[in-house]
Amino acid sequence: MTLTETAILDAHSPVPGNEWWRTAVIYQIYPRSFSDSSGDGIGDLPGITSRLDDLAALGVDALWLSPFQSSPQKDAGYDVSDYCDVDPLFGTLADFDEMLAQAHERSIRLIVDLVPNHSSDQHAWFQEALAAAPGSPERARYLFREGRGLDGDVPPNNWESVFGGPAWTRVIEADGTLGQWYLHLFDSSQPDFDWSNEEVRAEFRRVLRFWLDRGVDGFRVDVAHGLIKAAGLPDYTPDPEAGSMGGHAEDVPYWGQDGVHEIYRDWHTLVAEYAGDRALCAEAWLPTAEKTARWVRPDEMHQAFNFAYLETPWDAAALRTVVADSLRTYGAVGAPSTWVLSNHDVVRHASRLALTADNPQGHGIGPSSPGKPITDLGLRRARAATTVMLSLPGSAYLYQGEELGLPEVIELADDARQDPTWFRTGGERYGRDGCRVPIPWSSDSPAYGFSPTGASWLPQPAEWATLARDAQADDPASTLSLYRSLLAARRLHDLGSGDLEWLEGFGDDVLAFRNGTVTVIANVGDAPVALPGGIVIASSGPITGQVLPADTAVWLADD
Ligand code: NOJ
Repeated sequence: MTLTETAILDAHSPVPGNEWWRTAVIYQIYPRSFSDSSGDGIGDLPGITSRLDDLAALGVDALWLSPFQSSPQKDAGYDVSDYCDVDPLFGTLADFDEMLAQAHERSIRLIVDLVPNHSSDQHAWFQEALAAAPGSPERARYLFREGRGLDGDVPPNNWESVFGGPAWTRVIEADGTLGQWYLHLFDSSQPDFDWSNEEVRAEFRRVLRFWLDRGVDGFRVDVAHGLIKAAGLPDYTPDPEAGSMGGHAEDVPYWGQDGVHEIYRDWHTLVAEYAGDRALCAEAWLPTAEKTARWVRPDEMHQAFNFAYLETPWDAAALRTVVADSLRTYGAVGAPSTWVLSNHDVVRHASRLALTADNPQGHGIGPSSPGKPITDLGLRRARAATTVMLSLPGSAYLYQGEELGLPEVIELADDARQDPTWFRTGGERYGRDGCRVPIPWSSDSPAYGFSPTGASWLPQPAEWATLARDAQADDPASTLSLYRSLLAARRLHDLGSGDLEWLEGFGDDVLAFRNGTVTVIANVGDAPVALPGGIVIASSGPITGQVLPADTAVWLADD
């Protein structure tokens, strides 16, 4: 390890209340779609390393990498076959070490994805389980059960996979007969571990240490609400209104069971052994901020994604409520709130905020969806929404490409789609490919600079030439310039660690507050709004005179 790296890792030795993750802006890299150095059309780790200067110039504090570990890629890497190696698609462990060192050289921290709810069916443990007999220790690492009905041909319960279809698949036993069923809350290639088994717990402690020893700054924990299933695996029929991750449902026997908390307490202790305030961030889709806050009590995880914020419509009253609730609820357990508008599982917010019909989470948008985005309105609102988000106290997550104002890609051909949701619902739900299209770097290069050969695992739309990073870099009105100036001003004015004070008197369609010395005003309605005095530090769109146009947000400093 170089001197600089050591200095960075030790820079914030635990001073409660001052840890980096309380205020950090964390940029999500979806490795498949970020930057491809090998030319095979799939992004890779050396590709990421080669773009670190661009991320430093953007001004982010940390990176979160979606999975790059060994995987047959049935769910784009969220199906891990070896937790302690890099898939050859993305490079090698040496490439990982180099990327991490280079990120640290630039004072950028790095957290990796941990997928503990399920492995790939190609994981050695699952292969051993398939080869072993019912009741064996090998099967006890997963959730194998006998079927119901006379011939055992009815699944053990009625649970449905998040990606559609039954959550159980029946195996063929070694003697060729139809045998037990195994549980998979996601694709059939993603068998769920049995977390009541101590061997599973010990294995994940090993995995955590493997990456911590390599120097990572923390983990984003996949499906952190799903590891423990209710005893007896009782039947459950989901509320059709609940999102596909069960975001609005209470008392689901596979989400949010109390037993998950002791696992995170254990991990908290383990992570705290390491210098440098390593952090755990929960991906937990839960019905309320109150419930989610239980994942970030002082001895559990450090952060949890604020999906309630992500799901809030472009409505001033709703935004005000979710911001106030989040600050109060997470604050009550001593945790920062996080803020997020886009990720690799949701319709990009430049499209989501201006849809002409409802679009349930997880369904995605394609050529025959009832609701389509209104492009210009979507971008205007997205820029305003980000201007609000980056002014809030706490930690914010950005998803690669949102700094370019990328919209969801709607016109993907059926035969290009790769999300298991698309296959498991027989094309009824488009799924998430539309937010995963490889991002554009330069207007005039093959694959817009994503890949030297022009290959791209999902096709990029022709309109993206004008959205490429190089086309935006020197344009002060571009979305990229907006993100850069917001991030610089957020740092300068310490907004991440500020206190929020609501301002009244601007009308029902306006969100107005002060964070420290900065006044933030967002016009969420249709009519222009008169601005108070102050110096404009940043604005999501053009402002003339003292008037804030519709769907525009501004940061003002005192005169
Ligand atoms: C949540 C991840 O973000 C998503 O992409 C994945 O499909 C599921 N968990 C299953 O791992």
